[in-house]
Parts: sequence; structure tokens; C-alpha cells
Amino acid sequence: MDNNTLRPSFHIAGEQGWINDPNGLIKFKGKYHAFYQSYPADTVWGPIIWGHAVSDDLTHWKHLPNALYPDRKYDRDGCFSGSAIEWNGSLYLMYTGHSLNGGGNAIRQVQCLAKSDDGVSFVKLGVVISSDDLPDGYAPEDFRDPKVWRENDKFYAIVAARKKHGRGRLLIYSSDDLLKWTFEFDVFGRDCAGIMLECPDYKSDLGVLIYSEQFAPTDGIRHLNIHTTRYVLGKLDYKNKRFIGSDRGHICDYGFDFYAPQTFLNDNVMIGWMDMWDRTHPSYVYGFAGMLTAPRRIEVAGDRLVQSPAIAAKAGRAKKVNGTLSDRMITGMFTVSAKNLRALDLKLRVGPDCYTSLKLAGDEWVFDRSNSGSEIRMHEKDPDSVRGIRRMPFGSGYETRLTVVMDKYSVEIFENGRALTSTIYPHDGADGLELSIEADDCEYIKYDID
Ligand code: FRU
Repeated sequence: MDNNTLRPSFHIAGEQGWINDPNGLIKFKGKYHAFYQSYPADTVWGPIIWGHAVSDDLTHWKHLPNALYPDRKYDRDGCFSGSAIEWNGSLYLMYTGHSLNGGGNAIRQVQCLAKSDDGVSFVKLGVVISSDDLPDGYAPEDFRDPKVWRENDKFYAIVAARKKHGRGRLLIYSSDDLLKWTFEFDVFGRDCAGIMLECPDYKSDLGVLIYSEQFAPTDGIRHLNIHTTRYVLGKLDYKNKRFIGSDRGHICDYGFDFYAPQTFLNDNVMIGWMDMWDRTHPSYVYGFAGMLTAPRRIEVAGDRLVQSPAIAAKAGRAKKVNGTLSDRMITGMFTVSAKNLRALDLKLRVGPDCYTSLKLAGDEWVFDRSNSGSEIRMHEKDPDSVRGIRRMPFGSGYETRLTVVMDKYSVEIFENGRALTSTIYPHDGADGLELSIEADDCEYIKYDID
């Protein structure tokens, strides 16, 4: 990232102030573009603009001038989340214009378009899906986060919505020219568990639909974050106007901090907001709040979405581990591979008065950030949340490969295609890494990200 020692070193964060969702992820003219929700004036959410960063390798990002500001009547209280598409050599952003109009059900959320020829400066083309384009009975105050794509010689957009007095829904629109849109269908045709859905994303080639759910009722240990990102596998059936596929949404990430992800339009790579609503952000003392996750490659295998880090890193020499290993790491990546794994206890960012841990306990990984550094306060009241714990199923058979991506304020753990992502705010100098393992054969490889 840009040269600021207090910012994460390879995760996107705001140059100043607050950021939330990734937006408009696209490869355009040979470069990866990541836009994001940003409020540079403060370390809390405010009238949101689109920040912009570019990269050649999904790892080294450079900030560009902000792309969209709330400066029109229809987006005057925020340029909310959205996506990007290339058409006839130009880059188009489709986003939600948010206007308060006094609040409550007078709020209006409409879908807007902006265009750029150079991928840097954007001209607004106005509202393309307005409240009048909502089918009867849907709430014009909760209608947002369009994700656009092209299929069957048409443009499609999936937009989060809600029925008046109802819960979250997803709507499909189609267009021939990106300007005039027609309502096609309501994806599930029924309310979802969350009071509202946000940031839907659909990958037709993989057959996966991802969405973030606000305030879904809790569901045992499978759902502890009050806001959760889920996926369902299947395809949109445009002809019969429905979704054909699995019914129950699987959890996308088992950690504390993963929300509103989006995939690149032309690549099977996903980035999420590495944070969550209704949490405190100890990094405000450094002048920023909110980061994006490392990019993850996604695939579908069997009945699951499989994720692995997609970052450019240089592998060091493999080290055999016999029982224990000590190292130092604040920023970077490592893998632990083992055969017939029986026990694993890993401590990260160990300092005189803090550490973060991951332990294998039977058929699950237990991640503990209760002693990881500055306290992060959250609303969840279940015993795991109160104790700083998150769990992820242990998925390997005879061979295990655990990959950990670390930056100054985060840990992302990958094993057997599952991911557990959490922010941590360790005290200065906490750079110890301690591994204790029981397995038949164990190797540790450290990767440098320069
Ligand atoms: C998701 C979200 C979106 C909205 C944006 C506003 O985190 O609530 O639904 O567009 O953030 O910043």
C-alpha cells in the first residue's frame, strides 16, 4: 500500500478516515481496480464517497483520486455500494444514490451510472433504475448495491431490496444498453432471514450467489456475527424467472470480520470488507478505520465455495518442524503442512502482554482474539463472542495445509477451502510466532510480501 507506516502494508485501507465495502472490482485495461466506500473526514461512517485503488498483482495497491462524490440531488447523502463493467472500451460504475429526504420511509435509494474512458475520472450519467422501476409492494428506501454483469447478449443487475413491512429480497433487472432497465424477477420469491440483504454478487460461470444479511436470527454456532455473509450454489434461470440451487445459505467466512464481499467481474477473485457494522475500531487513533481483506481465489468444489489467498508472495525455504517452531512475523504469509495431524497450537503476534491463538480442538479450529491487543467492542452477546472466540470446521483428511495471511491489524486463516478472517490490534513490538504441533510430518514455509 502507499507509504504510511501506520496503515496495513498490503491490505487496502483509506488514506484517511473510514472505509467499508469494496465496490466496482474489475480488471480494466490490464490493471485491477478496487473502489471502496469511503468517508475520509472521520473514522466513523459518514456521507460516503467512492475511493479508488489500482494494482498490477492484487497485492501492491496504489490510491487514485476518489471516483464518486455525493454531489447530485439523487445521491446527495451518499454514493452507496455498487459494481463496475467495461463496455465498448469504457468503464461504467453502477452504484446506489442515497438521499435522506428527512429519513425513515422518505429515504430514497436509486441505481445510478457513471462512465470513464481512462479509468480515473468519471462522468455521472444519472439515475438508471429509480423507485418507479420497483415492482409493487417493495420499499423504495431499502433498494441498493447493484452488481452488474453481461450474459446472453444482455446486461443483468442484481439489487438488494425489501418488501414494505418485509425482510430482505434480491431483484434481477436486465438491459440492452446499461441505461434503460427492466425488472425481471425476485430471485427467491420470499423473505430471507435478515431484515435486509446487502451487496449481492452473482458468478454465473461458477454458479454461486453471495449476499450479506443484516440482523439475521442466530443459528447456533453456525452464525454468531449479527451481520453475516452467506452463499448459495446454483444458477439464475432467466427464462423461468427463478434461482435453481441450494436453499440454505452457507457461511462465507468463519471469522469476526468479513462482510459485503464482491468478486471481480472478470476473475474468480473475491475481496470483502475486513470489518463489520456495530464494532469499535481501535485504529481510529492512527486516523483510520476499516480495511479490505486480501483477495481470495474462489472455486466451487462439490457443495462448497473454496477460497485461497490470491496474493503475490515469494516462498522461502521449507523448514521441517519437529514438535515446535518459533519465528517472528507481523506482515506476510506462511503455510504449515502436516500429515496425520493430531494437535496444533499456534500463537501469533506474541508480545509481552498480548497474543492471538489458533488451536485444533477435535473437529474444529478455535481462534481466540481475547488477548490480542486493544479491545474491540461488539454487540454480540453469545458466549463465544464474549470470550473473543470464533470456530471453523477442521476439514482435512490425511494431509492438512494451513495458510495464514498476516498484516499489521489482521489475520486471515485458510484451511481446506474455508476461511476465518479477523482484525486484531496488537501492542507495539508483538511479532512472535510460536507453533507447537503433533503430526507425522510437518513443514513450515514463510512467504515474503515486499
Ligand atoms: C453494506 C452497506 C451497503 C451500503 C453501504 C453504505 O456494508 O450497508 O448496503 O451500500 O454499506 O456505505
